[in-house]
This record gives sequence, structure tokens and C-alpha cells, in this order.
Amino acid sequence: MTGPAAAALRDIPVEALTAEQAATELHALADEIAAYDRAYHQDDAPLVDDGAYDTLRRRNDALEARFPELIRADSPSRRVGAPAAPGFARVQHVRPMLSLGNVFSDEELLEFIHSVRRFLKELRDDPGLPLEFVAEPKIDGLSISLRYEDGRFTVGATRGDGFTGENVTANLQTLDDIPKRIPGAPAVFEVRGEVYMRRAEFLALNERQQETGGKIFANPRNAAAGSLRQLDPTITASRPLRFFAYAWGEVSEPVGETHQGFLGRLQTMGLQVNPEARLCRTPDEMVAFCRELGDKRALLPYDIDGIVFKVNRLDWQERLGFVSRAPRWAIARKFPAERARTRVNAIRVQVGRTGILTPVADLEPITVGGVVVARATLHNEDEIARKDVREGDTVVVQRAGDVIPQVVAVVPELRPAASQPFVFPRTCPECGSAVLREPGVAANRCTGGLVCPAQAVERLKHFVSRDAFDIDGLGERHLVAFRRDGLIANPADIFRLKDHAEAIRGRERWGERSAANLLAAIEQRRKVPLERFIYALGIPQVGQATARLLARHYRSLAGWRGAMVEAADPASDAARDLDAIDGIGPSVAADLTAFFAEPHNLQVLDDLQGEVAAEDFAGPAAGAGSLAGKTIVFTGSLAQMTRSEAKARAEALGANVAASVSRRTDFVVTGADAGSKAKKAAELGVTTLTEEEWLALAGEG
Ligand code: IVH
Repeated sequence: MTGPAAAALRDIPVEALTAEQAATELHALADEIAAYDRAYHQDDAPLVDDGAYDTLRRRNDALEARFPELIRADSPSRRVGAPAAPGFARVQHVRPMLSLGNVFSDEELLEFIHSVRRFLKELRDDPGLPLEFVAEPKIDGLSISLRYEDGRFTVGATRGDGFTGENVTANLQTLDDIPKRIPGAPAVFEVRGEVYMRRAEFLALNERQQETGGKIFANPRNAAAGSLRQLDPTITASRPLRFFAYAWGEVSEPVGETHQGFLGRLQTMGLQVNPEARLCRTPDEMVAFCRELGDKRALLPYDIDGIVFKVNRLDWQERLGFVSRAPRWAIARKFPAERARTRVNAIRVQVGRTGILTPVADLEPITVGGVVVARATLHNEDEIARKDVREGDTVVVQRAGDVIPQVVAVVPELRPAASQPFVFPRTCPECGSAVLREPGVAANRCTGGLVCPAQAVERLKHFVSRDAFDIDGLGERHLVAFRRDGLIANPADIFRLKDHAEAIRGRERWGERSAANLLAAIEQRRKVPLERFIYALGIPQVGQATARLLARHYRSLAGWRGAMVEAADPASDAARDLDAIDGIGPSVAADLTAFFAEPHNLQVLDDLQGEVAAEDFAGPAAGAGSLAGKTIVFTGSLAQMTRSEAKARAEALGANVAASVSRRTDFVVTGADAGSKAKKAAELGVTTLTEEEWLALAGEG
């Protein structure tokens, strides 16, 4: 599946797609939605906002409606949530925990009411027959199921994928809203509902988390989910979790005749039922309730994202049943995200720990849906340009449950006359290094990896990590502390820590022995293999495999460094040579040359080279000596082996396999139908070998 190709299809109206295109897109949608579901349900860290997610799901539904024969076994429409995460025991739901269909307007709500009327014969035949619904606020929390046996709370589980959830009984037992006993309950009684956090309690939790360096949650839902899914129940106990009951699962006897009656019964059992729940007798009352609750929304102590309407008569619910993952007897009427207008006081650009530059709008503080917001993310350079957001602009901001709101649009008529388009910085606001915009990606990245304070700890951590310099005993905590106290700013400083031995020994939690061990571990790394040295620099996209390719190709640190500096000129031989290394594409090459074009990085490298040495790449053992370090290009089809196998063998013998012919190529092996590369070899005077000659040279002939 090609991501970009499938993504491009998304702009084509569903009616205009061919079946083949629809199949491609359904595959991509299944993968993408599954990834978002995992992030949301298992990691409690959503990757996209709800609006974007809903758009994908609706597109999937529309495609499936037009091409029912293409519905996939792994279709998101057949799934609810994400599979239970490892770490908790599993619980099978005897009655599956399903999801709800959504509507976004009064018209769609009325259409839903009609669909219920059309489904049940007596309602279809008699338009005068009343059809009542119970309306309940839709809290964006985490749905759970509580099992009571003979009145005792026995098992509590998350929804999981709807069929199997996680056993979080011990954690649920810590909630005040969950009774441990329900005298007089049926022998088997499963209550379902929503675990949630109040807005003010959520904000206070985030403040505590901030102080203690804990995880900051994006919204109350994530905080509730993260708090419930703790392996240690004492953590859950310390979190302000609450519970509203609104449904049932397996029950040993009927729960009543109406949903309203059921809710009343839950209350007498000591369960919390949302006090806003209301019986609606007519469609007009339903629409009016939407308006009423919408107006009241910001005043409620918790965030709601809509209203759930449920057919009141339970015998009708039973007959209406389910279609795929949602009941026919209930619907969620979603509210639009809450919006407000305010002024952009300034646009700041923040540098993250990986060097990505993120623009942020400082706003004139304003209340949006009950939360004061003073900042909004502007995502990236393209987003600012697309919306043309400027300092001084009045903008519409929206909060979709999350604390950090989005800037939806500029209000053009309120733009000050003297306003200027925002100019995205070309140098890093933290360290002044050049900013690199990678081709095809919206992100801008600071190239001062080794010097940028925003990235410093991350880079130092990488530098000492096991596959890099592998320095034992220098964990993140120490790096942060040493950096804060001015003992280390860049990698070379690590090798000068020995000059501060006294200071280290005197630090809290350090003693004679631990300090001596650390300094000894550092001394052992004064010389490391070239590929580790390259990897340790943390150049974007240069992982271990690429570092090894580079080490093998350039053999020495001096050779590599010289070539990288030279390769900044795209017309140079060095640039062509870099380009010809098999396995190094244009975007990696761009990151490499950008790193070496940044003077700060060269200073840090000089400094580092003053302290440590890189061992030249050790080619494979003698015997195959004639190929070690040689650059080979294969062209045409080989008779005795595939191109991949030939490449693997050549590399095993210490050769570098390149994709294109340059002056630095040593041999071009020409198979059948060799084309332009053979010609180029002849032009450049590079030795060409037949397949047999190559095999002989490789010791296989
Ligand atoms: S009833 C079979 N009632 O919304 C129907 N769900 O989008 C089961 N939710 O999974 C759901 N408030 O987590 C129902 N009053 C309410 C709800 C509610 C919030 C959540 C619940 C459900 C999701 C579906």
C-alpha cells in the first residue's frame, strides 16, 4: 500500500471512485484508523483530533455503503475501540460493549427518529403512536462494565475491543462512585457507564503532574483512561475519578420496562445517574433539549461532546437490535467544538526535544467552554501560511475537549492595517543554528543538534547510549543534573569530567566509588569504532545501519568529515559519490550535508575530536582483500544470482555497492542487457567486469 497514493484518493468524491481505487483506500483507511484507535485507547495519547478522526470514519462508511462487497474483515466499522492492552488480565464481555452512531445536525437527528419509526411496524403504521426517547449528556470518558454477583462487586473491565476488555477491578474499587455492594440486586447484574474526570479536578491534576514531573494529559478523557489503567491501584486511588451509570450488560432478570425506569432503579441502588438526563416525548422536545444543553454546556463541571438519545421502551430497544457496531435504538447527537474569538498577542516558535520547531500563538486569555485558554498551537509553517495567521490578528479558536485549542481561522475584517505576514525563522530561536525544511515534510528542524539547548539532554542521552559511546552510569538524571550545574554542555565535556572528579564525589548520592566507576567507564571510550562515532552524533535519519554504510564507504573519520563538508556543493564529486551510495537517499544526504554546513556542529566536532578518536573502519579479513573497500555497481540482469544476493555477497567481502556510476566507482559488473551504466563506465574509464569475471574475483568462479 502506498500511503501517498491512497491519501490522494481521499480528495476524490466517493461516487467518482473505481472499485479498485475504493479497495486501495479502504485498506489504507483500515490501517490508519487502527493506528489512531491504538493511540487513543491503548496509549491514551491521541494522534489526531476528533474532527479529523470522524471525517476518516465517515469516509470509510460512505465507501462501504457504495461498495458493500469491499467491506474488509478488519474494517473499522466492524470494530469498536482497540484490543485490550497487555499488562491486565482479559475479561470477556458476555454482552458486547458497543458503540454509537453519530449525527451532527437537527436534520440528521430527525432522520434517525424516522428510521426508528420505519423499522417498527406499529410505529410506521400509526404516526400518532408516541415514540419517547431518554436524552443523556454524552461525556467523553471511558466506558466500563461493572459485574455484581449476588449483590457484590466482582469484576470491573474496560471496553477493550467491545468483546474483550481489561480487568481493572482493583482500580475501580478505589472509586467512591462505585458501590462495593448492591443489596437486592439481581443474582447477575452488569452495570455499564462512563468513568470521567471533572474539568477543574483534571486541571488541578495536571498542575500536580507538572510539579512532580509526571505525565501531562491532553484532556480529561486521557487523564481518566491513564488513571484507570495503572498497574498500581494506589495511583488510581489518588486520582479524581468519577462514574455515571447508563446501561447494562449481562443480567439474570429483566431490568425494567423503560430506560427511564432503569435509570431510576440505578439511583436507588446507590449508583450515580447523570442529573441532566431527561425524558423527551416528541422530536420537538429532543431538538429543544439539544439547544438547552448546548447553552448550558460550559456551566457543567465536566466536558460533554453531545447528547445520547435512547428509545425509552426496552421491548422496542430489544426489537430494534444492532447493526454492525451500534444500536438502532440510540444515537449520539454531537455538539460542534466550542469556539471563541480572541487576539493573537504574539507568535512564538518553540523547539522540541527532537529539534522540531513548533509555532505557538500567545492569545489574549479567553474562556472557551469553561476553560481559560492563553495559547494555541499553530502546528507548523505551512499551517500558519495556509491560515495566514499574523500577530495582532483576531482569530477563532476552538477547543475540542483538549486543553490546547486550535486556531480555526482569522477574522479578516478585524486585521490591523499595519499587520505583516508571519515570517517563519530560518534560524533556531534557541541556539541560532540553521533551520532545515525537509523536502515533502511540513516540519522544520533545528540543525544544531549538538549545541541546541532545547535538544541538549536528548542528544547527550543518545551520545552515551548503548549503541553509540556506550558509557555506563551516565543516565538521564545525571545528564540533566550535570548540565544544569554547568559540568557538561556538549559531548566533549563528558571526557573532561575527570577534571571535576572532586566536584562529582561531593555531589548528593555520589561517592568515591560511583564517581571512580563513572570516570573509568568514560576513559574506556576514548576510542570507538567509526560507525559508533557517526551514529553517536545523532544526525537526523542516521541510524545504526546508515552509520555503518557511511563508515564502510568512507573508512576514516577524516575521510568522511571532509567528504561531507565538500558534498554541501551539489555539483561536487563528493555529492555525487554520497548520492551513489546504495541505501542513502536524497533526504538522508540532505540531513548529512545540513549537519556539516552548520558551523556550531563543526566546532563541537573539533572539540570532540580533541578528546576522542574514531577507529578506522575495519574491513573484512584478508583473502577477499582485493574487494575490501572497493565500490561496485551492478547493472543488467545476472544469470547466477539475484541482484540482492550479489549485493549481499559483495558487501560481505567488504565492498561498497553503489547504485550509480561515478569517478569513484572501482568496478561495474555488467549482466545481460546492461544499459546506460555500462556506457557511463566506459566514458569514465571505470573497469567493467562480466558476471564470470566478477564471480572469479569474488572467489566463486
Ligand atoms: S450508551 C450500546 N450512553 O459514548 C450503547 N454511551 O460513542 C452503549 N457514552 O462507548 C453506549 N455517555 O463510552 C451511552 N449516556 C451515554 C454515554 C455513552 C458517553 C460513550 C460510551 C460509548 C461511546 C459511544
